[in-house]
Amino acid sequence: MKKAIYPGSFDPLTLGHIDMIQRSAQIVDELVVGVLNNSAKNSLFSIEERVSMIKEMTDSMPNVTVASFDGLLVDYMKEIDATIIVRGLRAVTDFEYELQIAQTNHVENPDVETIFLTTNLKYSYLSSTIVKEFASYGGDISKFVPEQMIDRIYQKYNISK
Ligand code: PNS
Repeated sequence: MKKAIYPGSFDPLTLGHIDMIQRSAQIVDELVVGVLNNSAKNSLFSIEERVSMIKEMTDSMPNVTVASFDGLLVDYMKEIDATIIVRGLRAVTDFEYELQIAQTNHVENPDVETIFLTTNLKYSYLSSTIVKEFASYGGDISKFVPEQMIDRIYQKYNISK
């Protein structure tokens, strides 16, 4: 049984994240989307909102579950008995940071391996930060996030469309 975690902040979930979830769920037996509950980070959506939105978007994927975690990723992985971390690489600029995290996690627990998927070219420019920046000015985010989430994101900025 290959159980993997796709960890992240997902604040908010983008179409790029969904593409990663769909593709990695085809590679492993079980995929947990692990939403980092980072109280130090000023997030747009609460942890409950993020988990519930991702659950809604992954409802039709039978081997995908969603959960929040805090603390070290490797500790949480022990708790849920997962050994694989899935991360996406958009561009070479992601590489250095991702390599450092992957190697640190592997040193912390040699049973843990990180696999990288190159993001779909369609979404290689996309990040949650870009979505928030665009939405905060009332920009069109329909190509960035699932349709069901568009209004919920604008609402956070008191923008009605
Ligand atoms: O979507 P993000 O913000 O790039 O995700 C980063 C994440 C959640 C993968 C990373 O910050 C993480 O694993 N945090 C949990 C704390 C931890 O284990 N840190 C050690 C990494 S060296």
